[in-house]
Amino acid sequence: MSQTPTTARSPRILVTGSVGQIGSELTPALRLRYGSQNVVAAGHRTPPSPALRDAGPFEIIDCSHKNSLEAVVDKYDINTIYHLAAILSAAGEKNPQAAWDVNINGLYNVLEVARERKLDRVFCPSSIAAFGPQTPRDNTPQETVLRPRTMYGVTKVAGELLCDYYFQRFGVDVRGVRYPGIISSETAPGGGTTDYAVHIFYEAIKFKRYNCFLREDSVLPMMYMPDCIKATIDLMEADVSCLTRHSDYNLAAFSFSPTELVAEIHKHLPELACTYNPDFRQKIADSWPRSIDDSAARRDWGWRPDYDLAGMVKDMLDKLGQRHALGKL
Ligand code: SER
Repeated sequence: MSQTPTTARSPRILVTGSVGQIGSELTPALRLRYGSQNVVAAGHRTPPSPALRDAGPFEIIDCSHKNSLEAVVDKYDINTIYHLAAILSAAGEKNPQAAWDVNINGLYNVLEVARERKLDRVFCPSSIAAFGPQTPRDNTPQETVLRPRTMYGVTKVAGELLCDYYFQRFGVDVRGVRYPGIISSETAPGGGTTDYAVHIFYEAIKFKRYNCFLREDSVLPMMYMPDCIKATIDLMEADVSCLTRHSDYNLAAFSFSPTELVAEIHKHLPELACTYNPDFRQKIADSWPRSIDDSAARRDWGWRPDYDLAGMVKDMLDKLGQRHALGKL
């Protein structure tokens, strides 16, 4: 990450979805970088950890109600929003109506608040879920077919288009990446198709066995959380004149199948026994790419991941192993 933020005013940041998998690690990183009092963490139903709640301001927001968002933006004089509140792919298939409401109406409200109050910058993630079965699955290009078959994917494609519209039409500086599956040790993900790649570590350490809900050969693009945080902050701090895109940068680190992940875990924990019982999430995984061409991100804002599969596995096992030893897993 560069040393000096490039925004003109110092950021007054709101993070929606701060209690979720990415928010719970992005928020502390932003607080470290910009000052705890300048970063407001917002959640909805899930209670925050004491660390998140006590290290800086915390507010409850329902993004699908605009006034709930406006009140917090005005109270703290917010000029930058990281909008992470969303319902993921598998949860979205169980309740497509809620996924549309949260993912689309929530984003629309964020963009309207940003337009009306002339906020400096908005971050809204897209996902590999924007792709679909007709998309080329290997080294998926930046510009390609976007015909997803999940409600989550539909909201991500619509969200990318909406963000681009607000940039072109209203000059709202909104930025985003298509996150691959994110692997992390702080807060487990909920309701995603790539979640197995996190759950397996908890089960491996606690029980030395895991029952995987995807087939053993399902290759998906993945990324370790420190790279996810780095990509997010670097994109938000990039000079706008370098950016040839806004809300839809392809982003990649490494790809693997459950078998390949288990083989890497076996180097540290040979006792792990993994069984495979694919469920409805297999169909979702089968509609997503195996690997991603992220050359636009590399070219425009210098994106480059630090972690490969081996580095991620070692770090995950170290971190979760320490927590397990303390009885905190
Ligand atoms: N990790 C997400 C999911 O599995 C993809 O963005 O739904």
